[in-house]
Amino acid sequence: MSNKYIEEASKLSPRAKAMLEDFKADLEKGISRIGILNDEEIYQAELEKIFGKRWNYLAHETEIPNNGDYVLRYIGDDKFIVTRDSNGKINAILDVCPHRGASVCRAEKGNSSHFRCPYHGWNFKNNGELVGAPAFKDAYDGLDRSQWGMKHAPRVEKFHGFIFACLDEYAPSLEESLSGMAWYLDMIFSLQDEGMEVLGEPQRFTIKGNWKIAAENFSGDDYHLMYLHKSTYDIGVMQIPLKENMKGYHIQAGNGHGVSFSIDLESEDPLFFFYPEEIVKTFNLDNLSEDQLRLARGSRVCVGNIFPNISFLMLPLSPDPKNVPPTPLFTWRIWRPIGKDEIEVFNWFFMYKNTSEEFKRASYQAAVSSFGIAGTFEMDDPVPWETMTRNAGGTFAKKHMKLNLQMGLNGMGTSKQVMDWPFPGIAHYPRFEEGNQRAMYRTYIEEMLKDE
Ligand code: FES
Ligand code: FE
Repeated sequence: MSNKYIEEASKLSPRAKAMLEDFKADLEKGISRIGILNDEEIYQAELEKIFGKRWNYLAHETEIPNNGDYVLRYIGDDKFIVTRDSNGKINAILDVCPHRGASVCRAEKGNSSHFRCPYHGWNFKNNGELVGAPAFKDAYDGLDRSQWGMKHAPRVEKFHGFIFACLDEYAPSLEESLSGMAWYLDMIFSLQDEGMEVLGEPQRFTIKGNWKIAAENFSGDDYHLMYLHKSTYDIGVMQIPLKENMKGYHIQAGNGHGVSFSIDLESEDPLFFFYPEEIVKTFNLDNLSEDQLRLARGSRVCVGNIFPNISFLMLPLSPDPKNVPPTPLFTWRIWRPIGKDEIEVFNWFFMYKNTSEEFKRASYQAAVSSFGIAGTFEMDDPVPWETMTRNAGGTFAKKHMKLNLQMGLNGMGTSKQVMDWPFPGIAHYPRFEEGNQRAMYRTYIEEMLKDE
């Protein structure tokens, strides 16, 4: 493909560029633009400039534990087969047959040594190499098979078993790109020597909303808990009182990532997200630095977004407050854009590997009942997210609506920057602030306006 097409494809239209430049001019005053939340040109540019450049989450290695295992996953609008090949190596292979472009894999997951294209029958190993084709001698004698294998994502890397891919071969490493967030994730994933494992299949569902709304929500919008999720709180699924839960830190973890902790750093009793004692006993606290241990010890809830669209949440909830005590759960999800105004959610639940089946089941039940498709929390958020997205598509609204992102800015409210924050990133206390969202959009605009 000519370089000229590739260069041109990633250019903004003058109109989209003007919209982003307007947003940039206002962002430091805590003002954002509704128009970027539902716009075809902006969306097309995001596929190139955000999802085509950043590290995207694909799968966890416990989803493909055996050689030959595979799952189908997406980066933006491209589909990839994530395989553990016959040599145990993990690959992200574009599911496009190099012959005429058909999909070669039609199951969402499975185990196979080969993939055969249904159109003319070209046959590939599970590492993407072309093996052969029907009537090869008659049809292709002289074809260099080594040149016609399936295309791979140029970069695949893992972090504690979480597999990411990047379509930009010159991007910084995954760990470098995670910036300060690597430290916080490392704290969570290192608690047990065995790490985490996925519980069942990812739940998948669509929301008629823009991906950035979901990402900014998880990056630091704890404020909406007090109103949108109040009824859920009122029935007692979470035992940390609402106002108490706002005591904690928003942390801009670098590179557009945001993480938020409900925490009591001075707590006499170790909290560890309210994991029961028998689970805490399985933690190897030597895996954590002194600082990480201090943070984990005081943590009640941790929620965050890895820019652009990977969100996670660890907290203790009860699926049945009268009869079942709260159990910690961990949800990890991507907001896959499938259009300017729609996302497909991939929602995984995880638990530490070295825990009983009974505890894993309890955690899964707590997770499904709250952050599953029909969960008490999960059902609330799409209501405003969908109206926000629909409203953002309005011709008048797009031109004239500016939105407020000022909480915690220039002394507004009670939140202040913690000047002697001993951990990575920039922190504010308490969580009545929107600095994480502003930081996310600062990175977003930088990426979108790069090379323009
Ligand atoms: Fe795949 Fe022809 S399109 S073999
Ligand atoms: Fe919510």
